[in-house]
Amino acid sequence: MKLSCIVNGNPVDADVPPRTLLSDFLRHELRLTGTNVGCEMGVCGACTVSVDGEPARSCLMFAVQADGCSVRTVESLATDGKLSRLQQTFSDHHALQCGYCTPGILMTLDTLMQKNALPSDEKSVREAISGNICRCTGYQNIVDAVMALSK
Ligand code: FES
Ligand code: FES
Repeated sequence: MKLSCIVNGNPVDADVPPRTLLSDFLRHELRLTGTNVGCEMGVCGACTVSVDGEPARSCLMFAVQADGCSVRTVESLATDGKLSRLQQTFSDHHALQCGYCTPGILMTLDTLMQKNALPSDEKSVREAISGNICRCTGYQNIVDAVMALSK
C-alpha cells in the first residue's frame, strides 16, 4: 500500500505491505533506530512516537495508519547535535541507566511540552509517564529531571 507522511519534518513516500508496523517501518525502512521496541504489545511504551502531536505506541499502529500524518521520533529532538532541553535535563539528572525506555519517555513528555502542558509536580509527572515502563531508574530521577524544567 502507498504511504505518504511527514517524518521528523521530511516528506516520506513509501510502498509497504499493509501489515507493516509503524515501529518496523521507522526502524527498518527509515533506519530511525532511536525508537525502541520492547514488548510489541502496547504495554511498555518503549516504542512511543508522536503522531500528529499525540503520543502513540508505534508497535500498535500499522505504518499505513500514519498516512497523511506528521510523525516525530526521538531523532527529532536534538538540533545540530545539541540536546533539547528535555534531553539535557535527563542527562543532568541521571534520568536514564540502560536507556532502553528513554526514547519512549522523552517522546511522551515532548508531546506534552509541545502543548505547554508539561507537569511540574511529582504526582502529575508520574501520571504522565505511567504508560512507560522503566526497569532501571526507579523513576525518581526522571521525575526530578522533568520538575527541574519548571524551576
Ligand atoms: S514495544 Fe510498543 S508498547 Fe512495548
Ligand atoms: S533506563 Fe533502563 S529501562 Fe529505563
